[in-house]
Amino acid sequence: MEYLYAQDNLSLGQMAARWVAREILACPNLVLGLPTGSTPIGMYQHLTRLAQEGIISFAQARTFNLDEYVGLTADHPQSYAFFMREHFWSKVDLPKANGDIPRGDVSDLAAECRRYDDAIQSVGGIEVQILGLGPNGHIGFNEPSHNMEIHTHVVDLTAETIQANTRFFPGSEAVPRQAITMGVGSIMRAQRILLLVSGESKRDILTKTLYGPVSTAVPASILQLHTDLTVLTDIKI
Ligand code: F6R
Repeated sequence: MEYLYAQDNLSLGQMAARWVAREILACPNLVLGLPTGSTPIGMYQHLTRLAQEGIISFAQARTFNLDEYVGLTADHPQSYAFFMREHFWSKVDLPKANGDIPRGDVSDLAAECRRYDDAIQSVGGIEVQILGLGPNGHIGFNEPSHNMEIHTHVVDLTAETIQANTRFFPGSEAVPRQAITMGVGSIMRAQRILLLVSGESKRDILTKTLYGPVSTAVPASILQLHTDLTVLTDIKI
């Protein structure tokens, strides 16, 4: 495990963008797994700037998002598809067809899960996966549970996640109760993983993730078993 320390959230965004920029410069047709949420916003801002200045290009890249809420259309302002359009897709030269995200508004969610895994497999799997860390230790929306799912699946969100994500909605009752998420298998099969963690409130869960027992109660703890994990954080532990 490599541990990178950022002074604050601002420099975390810059460092994350430089880390991704190095990967894309080394491999222009990179298959990149991407998160949404508050933590990666700075990374997307800096990546956008680097792309707009012509320093990097996503023209040959493929991206796959980790997750999407069930029941929200792609133009719902709280959907993760909307987030990606606003923060990344509309600002860089990634061809529209190359940015994939599970659809949460389809009637056959099981078929959508299969489509997503097939799409990831058809390009040879995720090469570089960027992750955020949920307050309860989730990665993607792989929530604490008695088991871990390998494949893309529909998940019931925990009360803690609904509470944490209420900040983006008018109230907790408006937060979707389910999501589609990439499974732990696609994440762990990535060649390299960058875990972004920002803010004092995540100190305990980061400690459990990196130094606690590997357990389904803290899904991110499985990252301890990955052979090429970089942790970029502004929390000193
Ligand atoms: C979102 C995702 C989640 C978030 C996590 C942290 O696509 O995969 O696992 O990374 O909930 O979210 P923030 O960064 O908002 O604290």
